[in-house]
Amino acid sequence: MILVLFGPPGAGKGTQGARIADAVGIPNVSTGAIFRGLAAAGTEVGTQALGYMKRGELVPDQIVVDLVKERIAQPDCEKGFLLDGFPRTIAQAEILDTMLADLGLGIDAVLNFDVAEDLLIERLSGRRTCITCGATYHVVAVPPKVDGTCDACGADLVQRPDDMPESIRTRLREYAAKTEPVLGYYGAKGSLKNIEAIGSPEDVFASVTAVVQSLD
Ligand code: AP5
Repeated sequence: MILVLFGPPGAGKGTQGARIADAVGIPNVSTGAIFRGLAAAGTEVGTQALGYMKRGELVPDQIVVDLVKERIAQPDCEKGFLLDGFPRTIAQAEILDTMLADLGLGIDAVLNFDVAEDLLIERLSGRRTCITCGATYHVVAVPPKVDGTCDACGADLVQRPDDMPESIRTRLREYAAKTEPVLGYYGAKGSLKNIEAIGSPEDVFASVTAVVQSLD
């Protein structure tokens, strides 16, 4: 199964991506998480991407496309994968289609998480992320058991640099200008499934599960 998780920053793609990947038994390919890992490891690509990410801007298409191409060629993606945060421009969507067609594959569904802008800002401002394993929390909606400490690995929780107010504003502008038009691209292809991503993470996961099961 090949799924695309789509939606604005803070819509809950990462939160749901981890659960869906577990439930379906496919890897969660998050371009944002991969870039953060490469940056933390001090690689050239990671350092290059980090500048764009901190400002809240999209990383240039070619850098992202090369990274995804390499990632989905790995053996764990043979039975399918979930893309979180890719594609984010029409050019990326077109390249992905070509990439998959060359492999005799296609997208099963694009799950579009629909959330109002004021709620997105609330979610991003309250997000805390584990410095070691990347697990995500929210100070109010999804708090850790011990304040500032990851439930999963015990490491410290921090605020992502791109969750500062100025970066959030830029990310929302980038989404509206460059990413939202991709909805029309997938709408025309008939692969788009809209999910009202409000309510608790469990409520949203129930909606996602219903859609994913309908694909079988
Ligand atoms: P990326 O890491 O993909 O960030 P994003 O798309 O902006 O998405 P977020 O991670 O901010 O939000 P999310 O939707 O995953 O929400 P989450 O589940 O964490 O990308 C970062 C950057 O990398 C980009 O800005 C760009 O620079 C670059 N990049 C990546 N891919 C690229 C591409 N293809 N092309 C170009 N550049 C690219 O949830 C948010 C918060 O809400 C959390 O605190 C969570 O606990 C909470 N929450 C989640 N669900 C709920 C709920 N139902 N109720 C209450 N709280 C909730």
